[in-house]
Amino acid sequence: MTNTTDLHTFLRTRRSIRRFKTDPVADSVIQSILTTATYAPSAHHRQPWRFIVIKDVSVKTRLADAMAKDFERDLKRDGLSSEKIQAQIKRSKERITSAPVAILLCLDLSEMDVYPDTKRNQAETMMAVQSVAASGLQLLLAAHAEGLGGVWACWPLFVQKTISKTLKLPENWEPQGMFFVGYPTDIPPLRERKPLYEITIQIEEA
Ligand SMILES: Cc1cc2nc3c(=O)[nH]c(=O)nc-3n(C[C@H](O)[C@H](O)[C@H](O)COP(=O)(O)O)c2cc1C
Repeated sequence: MTNTTDLHTFLRTRRSIRRFKTDPVADSVIQSILTTATYAPSAHHRQPWRFIVIKDVSVKTRLADAMAKDFERDLKRDGLSSEKIQAQIKRSKERITSAPVAILLCLDLSEMDVYPDTKRNQAETMMAVQSVAASGLQLLLAAHAEGLGGVWACWPLFVQKTISKTLKLPENWEPQGMFFVGYPTDIPPLRERKPLYEITIQIEEA
């Protein structure tokens, strides 16, 4: 990366990658990616992000099976046909087991400030979540820098307790998202962005 144009190009060429080659990802590369993720900014510099790296197929399968039970229950409640439920479950199981590396991103609130009122406690929680999300983006960009692909999966948020129990997570580690990482089989086309004029207001002095 030598100049600003290159950096913009780098940032704009990251894609969510959902299909991976079976090639393994070296531990040293995973360490580099996670280290870069920790260079994200965080509120009060409390660094509330936590990472679980899962490469072992049997652990991934155990986790996928445990989460599938929760998904099945929720989708049944939503009134989906059993055909659609099974298709969704199959897809989510494959997503986990086919990625060479799954990284679970967690939130740890234990070092955040505590206030006597709900309003400030909610703001404190929000800023910790925002900090964790910043590390998630940094993780994806670091993977991109390594020639790897990755995708952010949000569904751990729906099954937090099941994940914590299955992986025996430390008590304060709350699952926020899962990142699947590996060498991409192909690079999908760009998903178009909303034009700036739709999403930006510039306040001019009268
Ligand atoms: C918080 C968050 C949650 C996401 N959850 C999922 C998900 O559960 N499954 C999925 O396939 N992609 C998920 N994505 C990826 C988005 O679909 C993707 O970023 C978006 O379509 C834009 O595509 P791009 O990342 O290739 O630019 C998520 C992204 C974010 C930021």
